[in-house]
Amino acid sequence: MQIADRLNKIPPYLFMELRNKIAKARADGIDVISLAIGDPVDPTPEPIIEELCKQAYDPENHRYPTDEEKGMFAFRKAVADWYAERYKVQLDPKTEVLALIGSKEGCHHFALAIANPGDAFLMTDPGYPAYRASIFIAGGEPYHVPIKNENGYLPKFEDIPSDIAKKAVGMFLNYPNNPTGATATDEFFKELVDFAKSYDIAICYDNPYSEIVFDGEIPRSFLATPGAKDVAVELNSLSKPFNMTGWRIGMAMGNPDLISAISKVKENTDSGIFNPIQFAGIKAIKECQENIGKMLAIYEKRRNIVLDMLRELGWKDYKPYKGTFYLWIPVPEGFTSIEWTTWLFEKASVVVASGSAYGKYGEGYIRISLTVPDKRLLEAVDRIKKAMS
Ligand SMILES: Cc1ncc(COP(=O)(O)O)c(C=O)c1O
Repeated sequence: MQIADRLNKIPPYLFMELRNKIAKARADGIDVISLAIGDPVDPTPEPIIEELCKQAYDPENHRYPTDEEKGMFAFRKAVADWYAERYKVQLDPKTEVLALIGSKEGCHHFALAIANPGDAFLMTDPGYPAYRASIFIAGGEPYHVPIKNENGYLPKFEDIPSDIAKKAVGMFLNYPNNPTGATATDEFFKELVDFAKSYDIAICYDNPYSEIVFDGEIPRSFLATPGAKDVAVELNSLSKPFNMTGWRIGMAMGNPDLISAISKVKENTDSGIFNPIQFAGIKAIKECQENIGKMLAIYEKRRNIVLDMLRELGWKDYKPYKGTFYLWIPVPEGFTSIEWTTWLFEKASVVVASGSAYGKYGEGYIRISLTVPDKRLLEAVDRIKKAMS
């Protein structure tokens, strides 16, 4: 039986490997605390669950979900209203919004929609691993654009070789950034539009952490930048702001030609999102915005717990970036990312994500997620402190 060569190019998905490692340790009776995965344990707000249940009883919703090929119009309209109010971005819900099964689906369909076999595709390093997989599945060739602490983890466009930029058809990037927590600036957005226009590169601005920002940082959409809609689609998601990772609902917005192309891939792949989930999504967007502030307060408290630990353990000058519920932490001297990850697992039964899993420029860091309950986080901190003393 043949398995396609392109699948061999994709390394095992980081979190599947971690899940297996954790499951094995737990089966051996070890109380493992995972700070690796960004999956909120806090529940989805109740009105969203109630809406799902109510809509699930309506037989109209038991049929194929598409009332139009881009998703339920009422959902797309709710997204457009949210973007207008929150980010001052005007979107035509008919042509510029597409409902998705999470933003991860959008990454995959974006690559399939624009790449021909062998086309170069830019992505940041460190970067979200699903970008690389999406590029390979679409038959493209990833080119890794280093992002570094000294530049606020933003790409330096002038360092991208012009022969690569000329060949590239698309670029993936996300701010607030997974894994580093870095946020973008308006100046950077202008540079991104100019770069994309000069080289005719379609941008996939992946923005699922738009609302997860701290220390006075403002939530932003790249689409608010003049010219952005000429070159980009932005992905967003209900996963993180409303604790809905398992529900699988997100959206693509922006350039109508790109939205049509992504929609064509989607129409030929699945038959849309279960209507009750789209109704529940409308409820989340329209009536549950206060959940975001509630979650930010929870994440901020957890963030401070880890920051206090780091200061106590010797990371005197450490300053976190202002976005996402991740902390991107330099490893102690004498360790590689993997070595310190392994050390924490063996000495404290705490799992963190190794920075090197996000690309070679992630070496020297680990990523901690703040999505575990406070009690477990405090227990993890206690164990790390004991192990390190
Ligand atoms: C940068 C980035 N993009 C996309 C996703 C996927 O989000 P969704 O649940 O909307 O598919 C994640 C999830 O962790 C992410 O970190």
